[in-house]
Amino acid sequence: MEAAGTWALLLVLLLLVLTLALPGTRTRGHLPPGPTPLPLLGNLLQLRPGALYLGLLRLSKKYGPVFTVYLGPWRRVVVLVGREAVQEALGGQAEAFSGRGLVATLNGTFDGHGVLFSNGERWRQLRKFTTLALRDLGMGKREGEELIQAEARCLVEALRRTRGSPFEPSLLLAQATSNIICSLVFRLRFPYDNEEFKAMVRAAGGIVVGVSSPWAQTYEMFSRLLQHLPGPYTQLFGQLRTVAAFAVQQIQRHQRSLDTSGPARDLVDAFLLKMAKEKQDPNTEFTDKNLLMTVVYLLFAGTVTVSTTIRYTLLLLLKYPQVQERVQEELTRELGPGQAPSLWDRARLPYTDAVLHEAQRLLALVPMGLPRALVKTTRFRGYTLPQGTEVFPLLGSILHDPEVFKQPEEFNPGRFLDADGKFKKHEAFLPFSLGLLAGEPMPTGCPEPPASRQWPFQHPSSLPAAIPAPLTSTPPHCVDRMKKGNLGGGSLGGCHGHGCVS
Ligand code: HEM
Repeated sequence: MEAAGTWALLLVLLLLVLTLALPGTRTRGHLPPGPTPLPLLGNLLQLRPGALYLGLLRLSKKYGPVFTVYLGPWRRVVVLVGREAVQEALGGQAEAFSGRGLVATLNGTFDGHGVLFSNGERWRQLRKFTTLALRDLGMGKREGEELIQAEARCLVEALRRTRGSPFEPSLLLAQATSNIICSLVFRLRFPYDNEEFKAMVRAAGGIVVGVSSPWAQTYEMFSRLLQHLPGPYTQLFGQLRTVAAFAVQQIQRHQRSLDTSGPARDLVDAFLLKMAKEKQDPNTEFTDKNLLMTVVYLLFAGTVTVSTTIRYTLLLLLKYPQVQERVQEELTRELGPGQAPSLWDRARLPYTDAVLHEAQRLLALVPMGLPRALVKTTRFRGYTLPQGTEVFPLLGSILHDPEVFKQPEEFNPGRFLDADGKFKKHEAFLPFSLGLLAGEPMPTGCPEPPASRQWPFQHPSSLPAAIPAPLTSTPPHCVDRMKKGNLGGGSLGGCHGHGCVS
């Protein structure tokens, strides 16, 4: 009798747990279709950790371009597949879809702070600050380009020193790209043999590998449970700590030497000056934590994204020597041997431009996009998506959409060229997503600086498309301002003064 009572109690408890863990039944509303979630598991049977992107693509064949899945029992996500669905949502209803969703593995560290992982007023202020500060310091402008050219010279020198013997270039490429962002953020360039710099760059790379691993995708599904347990994700937290410690050291150095009357020399200075200005404001978003998390994200974004793209492009050039030859021939013909290309040369380098675009398209570096969230309850394609619903815009499905890019798995730079061999833009070339960062106007109404559409350095979603043109096509007073930079002349001209040590 006693045993029967115990069993009955257990059964009731189990039913209670199952009911509570039944995914989203209470708030489902009129959501897009999707596979039926199981209690406790969500759609784990359809979505294998480690192959999440492929699982989502497979589901879209059955449920169409807009569908709902459950990552574990608690996390309901609306998935957007293909150009039309993503553009309609993120472009057509940009404001509604502008919230930031969760990256559970990074959430413990960022905790809703910094430019990438914040929401609402905090995000608006940090985004505006970051885009304007980066632009004022030279990103997408001549100054930024000079930085890149100087760093490229250092990189080539380091490559030459290997004297043609085989070596693994990943770290070097990541250090070179990281130095560009370090110049903008800290006004510092680090020698390639600096051990702390090496450790930070390695850790940033490790974070990328970490967040896309099977165990991290498991964590994305069951974080509420796993965050209390030990597991391989602790390694990821260690890597985040390494990047954060590097950032803290640089921020403290800036705090010690800040000239509150002077112009900001870099992004950290600009942030500290803003903090000082808003010190009395109890609602200010210019806080220590937002500074640190913005810098950590920029270090990470500036180090890993571009260097991975370069490494992948180099591999493609090795695999397709005829493409490599054509690029080299175009560069030599148009610029002369050994001459560094600049953004202003782009119109003369359509084939090189096409190769860079095609490599980025094929790579699809962020195939699942970064999670967004609905900032208000929204009608979309006849469905009602409740406020807070997470959205995955599958950028890889756009870049590999066979309706737009025929035989999308093939490396074919020709798809970015017209019949006359001129560079041809593709509306579906969206490796950086869309909507969120739609260009802030220049503060005093100057036109956008002549800039790259998407390459090589300026984040395309931060500045609207502009055709490269000679600097002289911009009114002289604006050229002057651009040269000086908007932070009171804080140009980066001299920051590579110490040349490339090591
Ligand atoms: C190949 C290079 C890169 C790729 C493919 C890439 C891709 C992306 C993607 C997909 C997003 C999410 C956008 C969204 O949710 O709509 C993003 C956001 C962002 N990226 Fe990049 N990125 C790259 C390089 C960089 C670099 C070099 C920087 C910094 C200098 C940077 C800074 C940012 C920032 C600040 C955001 C956050 C925007 C916001 O939340 O308002 N990215 N990037």
